[in-house]
Amino acid sequence: MRSAKDFFAPLAVGAPAPVREVPARPSRMIHFFDPSNEKMAAKIPAMVGVSDVLLGNLEDAVVAEKKEAARLGLVKIARDTDFGEHTQLWTRVNSLDSPWVLDDLTTLVTEIGDKLDVIMVPKVQGPEDIHYVDRLLAQLEAKGGVQRPILVHAILETARGVANVEAIAGASPRMQGISLGPADLAADRRMKTTRVGGGHPGYLVRQDPTRGDDGTPDYQGQRAVFQQDLWHYTIARMVDACATHGIFPFYGPFGDIKDVVACEDQFRNAFLLGCVGAWSLHPVQIDIAKKVFSPSAEDVAHARRVKEAMPSGGGAVMLDGKMEDDASYKQCMVILELAERLSA
Ligand code: GLV
Ligand code: MG
Repeated sequence: MRSAKDFFAPLAVGAPAPVREVPARPSRMIHFFDPSNEKMAAKIPAMVGVSDVLLGNLEDAVVAEKKEAARLGLVKIARDTDFGEHTQLWTRVNSLDSPWVLDDLTTLVTEIGDKLDVIMVPKVQGPEDIHYVDRLLAQLEAKGGVQRPILVHAILETARGVANVEAIAGASPRMQGISLGPADLAADRRMKTTRVGGGHPGYLVRQDPTRGDDGTPDYQGQRAVFQQDLWHYTIARMVDACATHGIFPFYGPFGDIKDVVACEDQFRNAFLLGCVGAWSLHPVQIDIAKKVFSPSAEDVAHARRVKEAMPSGGGAVMLDGKMEDDASYKQCMVILELAERLSA
């Protein structure tokens, strides 16, 4: 994974540029809280060390009358809380076409810029949105004397954003990652769903009918039905764009808090496709993300066996009747590297 250092260094004129490393330890969950909700805000210090990321949300789900309270609430939480080594503080600001975002950025960067690790920008349409935020952050950081550059995370939640995903991923050295935003994306694409992420019982494939001796299909007979992943295409595009530019891909929200089984399935699909984490909307989803986005003990044990069987990392060996070669060795290294980073 690249480090922000590689990109910021060439921009330095005279004095060395400030450096903010992209953390070596990937964040498995981004836990959302509403900083205008005092009860919720009071619980944040106890969640330091529990969630990899705590994100003060200023955008959707915070009503217009509470936007300012949420912004100021986040300033207070940031000032009063020591986030330690293993928990980052992020925020999701309002969208770039809203009347609040300029105040969000100005207040947060000048007041608590040194404590903010990442700013999540919603409804990103193209690289021009990231360029705008990038320039504004540079000005505000200089004004506020912020010692390290704040990183940027885009939400992929418009059809145009998906069409531009590669350009968004590479739009700035500040880019830390991209999240899929399935709820807004569904609306923008005019999908006929009414949920916040996850699957849909109507999005199915059905097994072919069985046929009688004369070859006639039995359309009335029992046929297995499989629900499909509505988000497969977009996640795959996002993962490719992020891998191309060395940034982190995330699955976004899963709104049915009670359906922990489907949440785990959705998170796991994203993990297997290459995502490093997902959003958490309730503490129960922190535990699901921790389990899903950490490689299993079985996968780590298998990866170690392959590594031992191929000390040079190349050639071909047979293990349990299966061929392992340079490419499967590399996949095993992905698992081992992730396990190592998470245990650091
Ligand atoms: C998240 O913001 C979403 O729209 O899914
Ligand atoms: Mg959204």
